Amino acid sequence: MEGEYIPREHWGSRTAFIMAAGGSAIGLGNIWKFPYITGVYGGAAFVMWYLFSILMIGLPVMLIEYAIGRRTQRSPVGAFKALAPGTFYWLIGAMGVLAGFIILSYYSVIAGWTLAYIFKALFGGFAGFHSPEVARQAFEAYATHPIRPLLTHAVFMFLVILIVYQGVKKGIERWNSILMPLLAVIVIVLAVRGITLKGVEAHLSALNGLKFLFAPDFTKLTGNGMLVAMGHAFFTLSLGMGAMLTYGSYLSERENLIKSALWVIVMDTAFALLAGVAIFTTVFALGFQPGSGPGLIFNVLPAIFAVMPGGGIMGVLFFLLLSIAALTSAISLLEVVTAYFVEQRGWVRHRAAVVWGIAIFLLGVPPALSFGVLGNIKLLGMTLFDLFDYLSFKYMLPLGGLFMVLFTIIRWKPVSLLQELRKGGSALRISNGAALALLIVSALFVAITFIAGLFGKN
Ligand code: PFF
Repeated sequence: MEGEYIPREHWGSRTAFIMAAGGSAIGLGNIWKFPYITGVYGGAAFVMWYLFSILMIGLPVMLIEYAIGRRTQRSPVGAFKALAPGTFYWLIGAMGVLAGFIILSYYSVIAGWTLAYIFKALFGGFAGFHSPEVARQAFEAYATHPIRPLLTHAVFMFLVILIVYQGVKKGIERWNSILMPLLAVIVIVLAVRGITLKGVEAHLSALNGLKFLFAPDFTKLTGNGMLVAMGHAFFTLSLGMGAMLTYGSYLSERENLIKSALWVIVMDTAFALLAGVAIFTTVFALGFQPGSGPGLIFNVLPAIFAVMPGGGIMGVLFFLLLSIAALTSAISLLEVVTAYFVEQRGWVRHRAAVVWGIAIFLLGVPPALSFGVLGNIKLLGMTLFDLFDYLSFKYMLPLGGLFMVLFTIIRWKPVSLLQELRKGGSALRISNGAALALLIVSALFVAITFIAGLFGKN
């Protein structure tokens, strides 16, 4: 490996790493996006396919990212330079840093909305929402406002910068260790409340929400839905852009990567399903529609909180849940960018976190305004917000993931991957040939996700 030795911070314990990686994975993708795409694409059958995609795509890419990160003790660009000096593979890492910029800029806009909604819920702002239509109008008035969404976007980015500024152990590790258990408590309270809700009319029941989520009807699963599930596997597990690679680079050789990856995947899936239970039991018990798309959270739920028993406090908890989940994910996005400037450009962490955090805030201004004053600006037929989401979700993450798997097959070699995975006490009994075969199958899945995505509608 080339490059001089750089003293590196390491996680204080395995739990700390799992909390941080889980914090990155569990985010708006689980609580905002997963329930609404499940609602749109037909419920349980979609969920089954999603679980299958997590295993076929998510697990191998996650293992590769952890292994490369830990092996090289570098963040994405430096990692590929170290493993393949003199080649262009470092561009995979560079695309990841760029994806970090783009994703965080619009992610923070939605996170800002959720912050605003904590306060709206707290001060009784949902009280007048007699129907989702009234809630929708209020949400639109907020999201299209020329200044308010910028303020909440700024507050959110300020929090993200503050944590990354404090470093890996004192910032990222400490805050994840506090926030993740809190998050688990909140989601469980909300799910239990949802399950125990009585239907407001005789034919309505929370149970129907559980059926919607867990009893599959495969005739409802469309090709497009399958693609969305596969793309979502990347987003929800923070894969394809080197976030997990970067977190893996703060690991020591003592850790068992396979166990850690399984923990993170189980936690991420459990959160998505629990958020789904909380939301769909409530939606069904109160007679609302599950398939209302991205607005499910901001239009339908506030109207539900307005009428449901205990809705005031549940509303506050729900938006607190979303904000915290978004924060722990956003930290990992800024960390990818910060680590690049620290490692490859010799910046000090404090300066890198502040300067690039502000740059990302500025990049988020146009998409934040694209619901209102900049709504007429369209590129490739999309608003700026949709374009940022589309570029990262549909192209950058799956392409990054595909390149990482191909890199492992062609250049780094499955044998090196296995060698890294066997450290930390893992008795991995698998031959090099079998590992190669599994990687090829996984590469095919990722390639299908990417190529079919080029032609699909979504
Ligand atoms: N995994 C996060 C979520 O589900 O909301 C989003 C995300 C975070 C994607 C970090 C990519 C990333 F690097």
